[in-house]
This record gives sequence, C-alpha cells and structure tokens, in this order.
Amino acid sequence: MAQFRVPPIPSSEITPESVYLRRRQFMQAAGLLAAPALAGLASDVNARPATGGSPLEFRDAASGPAGFTTDEARTPRQDVTSYCNFYEFGSGKDDPAKYAHEMSVDPWSIAVEGEVARPGKLTMEDVLSRYDLEERVYRLRCVEAWSMVVPWVGFPLAALLKNFEPTSKARYVAFETLYRRDEMRGTRSFTSTIDWPYREGLRLDEAMHPLTLLAVGMYGKTMPNQNGAPIRLVVPWKYGFKSIKSVVRIRLTEKQPATTWQDLNAREYGFYSNVNPDVDHPRWSQKYERRLPSSLLRPNRIPTRLFNGYEDQVAGLYKGMDLKKYF
Ligand code: MTE
Repeated sequence: MAQFRVPPIPSSEITPESVYLRRRQFMQAAGLLAAPALAGLASDVNARPATGGSPLEFRDAASGPAGFTTDEARTPRQDVTSYCNFYEFGSGKDDPAKYAHEMSVDPWSIAVEGEVARPGKLTMEDVLSRYDLEERVYRLRCVEAWSMVVPWVGFPLAALLKNFEPTSKARYVAFETLYRRDEMRGTRSFTSTIDWPYREGLRLDEAMHPLTLLAVGMYGKTMPNQNGAPIRLVVPWKYGFKSIKSVVRIRLTEKQPATTWQDLNAREYGFYSNVNPDVDHPRWSQKYERRLPSSLLRPNRIPTRLFNGYEDQVAGLYKGMDLKKYF
C-alpha cells in the first residue's frame, strides 16, 4: 500500500565522508572515461563536444550563491543510503538499499520533449561532459516529518532546460522515473496502488530556480541506486517526494501535469508541497521534524522552517499566493 507513514527510527552514527572531487575522477567512478571516445557518444542535435577530458574542479560549494549551501552537520552517508523512500523497490525504508541494485542504470538516457524548440535525448555521457558539477549541501525534509542534510553533486536543472529552448507556451515541467517491472519489485507488488511510472512536476519558474538541482552524486561519489541513480531531481524547499529519482523523461507542458502523490490523494498531497510548518498534513503535524540520525532515546527533534529554511531564496516565487490553498 503506497501510503506515507510517520516511520520508526534507529540510525547509526558514522563520521561523514569529506568530499571535493574533480569531475574527471567522478566520471571515472561512473565508468564513463572507459568509454572509447566520449565526444563521439553525444547522441542528439543538442549535444556539444565533450570538454576534452581536462580535469574540471568542482566549484567550492561555499562559493555558490548566498544561502545555497548549509553548514549544518551532514547526515552520515550510511543513514542516507540505508533509510530511503523509493517505492519502485518496496514501501519499507530498507527495501531500496536491499533491492535497488536490481535496476540497471547503464546505459541511461533522458528524453526532453514537449514545449521545447529542440526536443532530444541526452545520454549520461552527454550530461557529465556538458554540465559543470558542483557540490551543494542541502536540507531534505520528507513529508513524513524526518529530515537530513545531504551533500549532493549536481548542476542546476535550468542549465539543461535552457539547452532545449522552452517555447513561450511552456509553463510547467513534468518528470518521469524509469519504469521496468522486471527490475523493480515494488512495481510488481499486489499491494502497490501507484500508477507507474512515478511522476512529478514543477512550475517552470520553480524548475528554473537556481536552487533546483539535477544530482548525479552525493558525498562526492556517484549516486547510489537507492538514492536515485544515475540522475535525480533535488528541490530543497519542497517535501522530499517532489525530488523524483532515476529520471528518464522531462516534458515541458502548458498545463499543470498530473503527479503521483496528488493522484493518490489530492487532499493530503498538493502540487506545490512547499515545506510549511503552518500547514499540517491531515494525519500529522508538520511543525517539527526528526533530523537523522535520530533514535527513540535521542529523537533529535527540531522545528520545521517555512520553505525548509530557503525562504529568502524562494518566497518571491509565491508572492500573493495563499499557501494554505496552494499547499
Ligand atoms: N522518486 C521515485 N521515483 N520513487 C519514490 O518512491 N520517493 C520520494 C523521493 N523520490 C520516491 C522518489 C520521497 S517520498 C522522498 S522523501 C525522497 O525521494 C527520498 O530520497 P532519499 O531516499 O534519497 O532520501
């Protein structure tokens, strides 16, 4: 049954890994430099030649725009990779870590279509050769009232969307996750009520906001399957379910797209789903959250902040809107 639960806890404490990789090392880790000629793999009209393999540094996260990277303690990688929501592999928090390895992520491509002047496809090789990667340490707040702090490796979604040239009709962006029944045991479950593939959506201005990331890694390494390999969305001011994993399709649309959780229960899950301590979930309060690692004895309970603490950066997107109505 696909239903968010306020979950039980235990989590271990492990020293966070410190990061700072070069893109070349990152691509090596992803197995991409083993490919014969990276430039030759570009697969669509939009692709530009690869950058020639010269080492490209991650930009120092601290040099990103003000407030984009938090210096709050990072959640240990072990917690982030073992306590997951990825219903394609089951509804238990440990199911993704157990079963997501059954998903094949190589080769991978993303189709970009709909209201764009230059529709096309990007392979992961295209993505990694085209966009400068940077580290962004973001808070992630799940609608189930737990949260974590994750150092993502990625690039602004805006950079990708601009390459495909949104038309003047484009007002929303719809996203879809890979759907392969034979590799995703959760999609074969008789108790699942989700209409696969998992779908999400943003308004175009939200999608173009510089905080909105496409992440290809975390903790300086390629993305683990359970966290949405090889590429996922991260929208830090919205509840975690908006941050769709393992994206294969991006479609620009005129109309607001259907999304998985809104389809399942529109009364409980709105299209916007901005983090808001003043709008409770019908079945629980959103005033506080458990910051992982958290345990029964040490719940690590902290107050939830409007827009998950990104109010200065994003409040302008919702000027004049009733946030209780457009929840
Ligand atoms: N994306 C897909 N395709 N399927 C999912 O079940 N779960 C969402 C989101 N993205 C989900 C998904 C939810 S509910 C949350 S809280 C975050 O992923 C969790 O990301 P994490 O497991 O990397 O912490």
